[in-house]
Amino acid sequence: MAGGRGSENSFQSLNDGCHGTRAFDYTFREARFARHPFRIRIRSGSMVVPPITFSPVTRVLSCIQPTGDVHLGNYLGALRVWVDGQHENDVFHGIVDLHALTVVDTPGVLGETTINLAAMLFAVGLDPEVATVFVQSHVPEHPQLGWVMECTVSFGELSRMTQFKDKTASRENQFISAGLFTYPALMVADILLYDTDAVPVGDDQRQHVEITRDVAIRFNHRFGDTFVIPEAVMPKAGARVMDLQDPTSKMSKSADSDAGCVMMLDEPAAIMKKFKRAVTDSESEVRYDVAAKPGVSSLLDILAAATGTTPQAAAEHYTQYGALKTDTGEAVVALLEPIQARYRELIDDKAELTRLLQIGSERARAVASVTLQRAYDAIGLVPA
Ligand code: TRP
Repeated sequence: MAGGRGSENSFQSLNDGCHGTRAFDYTFREARFARHPFRIRIRSGSMVVPPITFSPVTRVLSCIQPTGDVHLGNYLGALRVWVDGQHENDVFHGIVDLHALTVVDTPGVLGETTINLAAMLFAVGLDPEVATVFVQSHVPEHPQLGWVMECTVSFGELSRMTQFKDKTASRENQFISAGLFTYPALMVADILLYDTDAVPVGDDQRQHVEITRDVAIRFNHRFGDTFVIPEAVMPKAGARVMDLQDPTSKMSKSADSDAGCVMMLDEPAAIMKKFKRAVTDSESEVRYDVAAKPGVSSLLDILAAATGTTPQAAAEHYTQYGALKTDTGEAVVALLEPIQARYRELIDDKAELTRLLQIGSERARAVASVTLQRAYDAIGLVPA
């Protein structure tokens, strides 16, 4: 089984690289292969647990569906956190286009949204040499292991998934694909393929990580120790970004209007207009008080996130709403300008974008193919 992978050497180099600082001064390959002898031996109980100073690299997987354009709330609330955290762990970011296929069926749409999202992930600062950014359909092991997982999860378990119930409740008499029902099995495969330790997810996705654990434990029990059992973790908190027209709700693009939602690719004039029209209140005092003054507080949150300060400190510079709105708009324009420039460069250079995604899919496949084979071997399928 997996115990033979990695060498004492790479184990040693990971050990050296990780003392105290967790510096990323060993190569990706060493890091990846070094993890396994460590984990597997610990689990089989045949090795003394290393000293506490040893901190193995944590494999973290976050996936995002290519549906809809990225907005400021997605960026400050999540993507920027990904960028800031890319050196801390061994991070994998999948653009899960096959998952989006459960709800998108117009020819060409998914490819375009996938490319746009990829360009945005690189534009905001994910470094393809550090983070593994890949497109799910470029890694055929996902649907391959997905099938195995469909055969490991039960119909009853899938029937109990609240997301499936929610998504289908409003679609009576509409086409509901079987994929929407089996979606969690593919997500189980996404997670298990990378020997993922931690999956940062919001509450809506916790049940999916729970089912992943159940299914992995079941598989390991049936076929022998094969998969790492992942854990759902709270994503590191990003900035609070509320809708500019409804500051008690999270920023989001509603079907009828995007006046309260700043899109990452909005022109500076459009951004300024949205901030100038932001909902505040009938007082005139600038003060950070989320409960009593949600609109003003939301502007302060955004201004603080864009300029690297705290909302309380930002509040001290203002006595009038007008100036606060203008400055927040300008700070956001300045924050987005280099991202927009890099995005345009990448979108205009598809060859470069393809190259960057190839780096990601090669790295992803190097891990995923080993895990898939391990699963096939554990089941006892005839070697190809
Ligand atoms: N289901 C997730 C969502 O809707 C997306 C997703 C698919 C995912 N595969 C994943 C998230 C694996 C984390 C890990 O947001």
